[in-house]
Amino acid sequence: MITFPSPGFQLPGPGLGQPASPDEISAREYTVTKDGVGLPPGSGTASEGAVLYQQLCEKCHGRAGRGASAEELVGGIGSLASGFPDKTIGSCWPYAPTLFDYIRRAMPIDAPLSLTDSQVYALSAYLLQLSRLIADSQRMDAQSLRRVIMPNRKGFLQTGP
Ligand code: HEC
Repeated sequence: MITFPSPGFQLPGPGLGQPASPDEISAREYTVTKDGVGLPPGSGTASEGAVLYQQLCEKCHGRAGRGASAEELVGGIGSLASGFPDKTIGSCWPYAPTLFDYIRRAMPIDAPLSLTDSQVYALSAYLLQLSRLIADSQRMDAQSLRRVIMPNRKGFLQTGP
């Protein structure tokens, strides 16, 4: 009989149930709001992002953001109300700073929080440029990223304050 987990095995977890120290809390204060509050210094372009994407993201998300096992990142703009809604960054996400926040905290999924802020700007620029939402040469930083108008910005119902 196979016993799983093996006796004595403990998952390496975040220490749930233990009060977090102020240092542990500040190390996790990296939230960026939809309006771009909290975007850090640094910057990057789509061509810088393309190189990183190929090294770190393509194996799961496919060439140019499509066609592999993980979520499709590019394409589908205007498809949400169709019979085949394709939920991507360009078709679904209402605010560009959220892209920065998500990539920085969660991607690559096998090494989250491993990217520098400028690498995250570059990857955001690459994915926005592939989605035809910014020009090829446009540098993304705390100012320019919050100015990108996402096609689905008005596609969500505002229920909160
Ligand atoms: C080992 C596979 C893997 C790698 C490598 C990876 N991702 Fe992902 N990514 C995923 C999976 C799986 C999801 C869906 C996660 C979920 O829905 O909770 C995802 C989701 C995303 C999303 C959100 C898509 C959406 O619309 O919901 C973005 C953006 C993203 N990844 C960007 C990146 C970038 C940029 C990199 C490289 C730095 C990267 N990913 C590397 C597996 C991967």
